[in-house]
Amino acid sequence: MRVSTPRRYLMCRPTHFEVSYEINPWMDVTRETDNARAVRQWETLRDTYLAWGHTVELIDPLPGLPDMVYAANGATVVDGLVYSARFRYPERGAEGPAYQKWFADAGFVTHTAAEVNEGEGDILLVGDTFLGGTGFRTDREAHAELARLTGREVITLELVDPRFYHLDTALAVIDSDPAHPLVAYFPPAFSPASQRVLAERYPDAILATEADAVALGLNAVSDGRRVVVAPAAVDLARELAERGFEPHPVDTTELLKGGGGAKCCTLEIRA
Ligand code: ARG
Repeated sequence: MRVSTPRRYLMCRPTHFEVSYEINPWMDVTRETDNARAVRQWETLRDTYLAWGHTVELIDPLPGLPDMVYAANGATVVDGLVYSARFRYPERGAEGPAYQKWFADAGFVTHTAAEVNEGEGDILLVGDTFLGGTGFRTDREAHAELARLTGREVITLELVDPRFYHLDTALAVIDSDPAHPLVAYFPPAFSPASQRVLAERYPDAILATEADAVALGLNAVSDGRRVVVAPAAVDLARELAERGFEPHPVDTTELLKGGGGAKCCTLEIRA
């Protein structure tokens, strides 16, 4: 049986959300965004977590930082230790210090990253091990820096498809219990060598379909039993249900215009 564990998340209301620049293939400045709709979808996501008994902390959205809603990119937090984000593109540069300040003000010990990394967008904890994405945003050197800082193993995975530019768009952590870790991923998003690493490490993984992947279905959030998934990721939802999880469709299509889904909006605080 699948067991949910209480989670503590950090989120950022999309008050200033819009697409005013293009740094991934999903973003199109000529396409209209509906800010009120983005806010409603975000509120539904937040309310889902609250209804499940999770804690949701909030960071104030800053004007001029339309992507700040994607809180997952703000830092990596494990064992109460905060590894700051250092963004690839100047458009998001100010988000790193903003998130780091939130954690410092909340009493966390924070470490300023020397290497380029985009937080939980590219760094995912599975059991006791980190998976580190690289290829588009986070530098490999950041994986080494994170390993030194945390004393944990970081497995580097190379992303090759620009639509899946962050690890959390290509791979979802469904169960992070070290006794029975489970991931779901879209194999073609990874280099052949990284596909071999994943197949060896996770022989029982859920292999997502292209339809799941292009709906950003892998940008899912699991609490160990209940899983928030994009409504269009029907193959993934079916597979999750077959394996004893509870898929919960939450529509984040307005936020998809910026290239993110549920997981992108959710930073897990592991105190
Ligand atoms: N527009 C943002 C960017 O390109 C989207 C970030 C999505 N976040 C994520 N964790 N994948 O940086």
